[in-house]
Amino acid sequence: IDPVRFIGNHSSGKMGFAIAEEAASRGASVTLVTGPVQLNTPDQVSRKDVVSAEEMKNTILHYFDDTDVLIMAAAVADYKPKVISNAKIKKKESELSLELVKTDDILKEIVKNKKQQYVVGFALETHNEKENAKQKLVHKNLNAIVLNSLNDAGAGFGYDTNKVTIITAEEERTYQLKTKKEVAVDILNFIEGC
Ligand code: CTP
Repeated sequence: IDPVRFIGNHSSGKMGFAIAEEAASRGASVTLVTGPVQLNTPDQVSRKDVVSAEEMKNTILHYFDDTDVLIMAAAVADYKPKVISNAKIKKKESELSLELVKTDDILKEIVKNKKQQYVVGFALETHNEKENAKQKLVHKNLNAIVLNSLNDAGAGFGYDTNKVTIITAEEERTYQLKTKKEVAVDILNFIEGC
């Protein structure tokens, strides 16, 4: 927004980091593209830090051709400020409106270049969970989508646990509440089994 403020959300990044760590421990060559998070880089993982949806898209595009599996756990901002102020916006009237414009849908853009890659998205939903997740599976042309609902206790932002359902065109697999580390194992087992 300005040199002091930004648009963010409650995502901790823990799920994506757990997946990167698990994949590297299985011997995969892992590039972890991450927004600003307070997490240590797992061993044997090449980390690329980005601060915007556009930067994330360009970084993923750079690696995508040589990628076998893309797992997109990032909670990407859907909107960004139309104008970024060079100076701190000073307090004036009682109300302030920020004009926001859409960011690119990274997955939608990336899958246009899809060849051999197995592409997994995430869906974080608060209502009509399965219906919304299935729509994203189709609209974003994904091989699989990992649904987590904010309505499940212990699942979602900030927790060390998560409860997911993995959905493909052919099947739906629901897992118990587990640590994010264990969920990462389930997701990679699922992909390896495909
Ligand atoms: N995603 C993306 N680019 C965006 C927004 C989301 O690639 N600009 C990816 C996420 O990383 C995730 C999937 O799309 O893998 C679904 O993200 P989600 O936030 O659940 O859905 P949106 O597509 O943003 O739709 P909505 O916010 O309307 O639920």
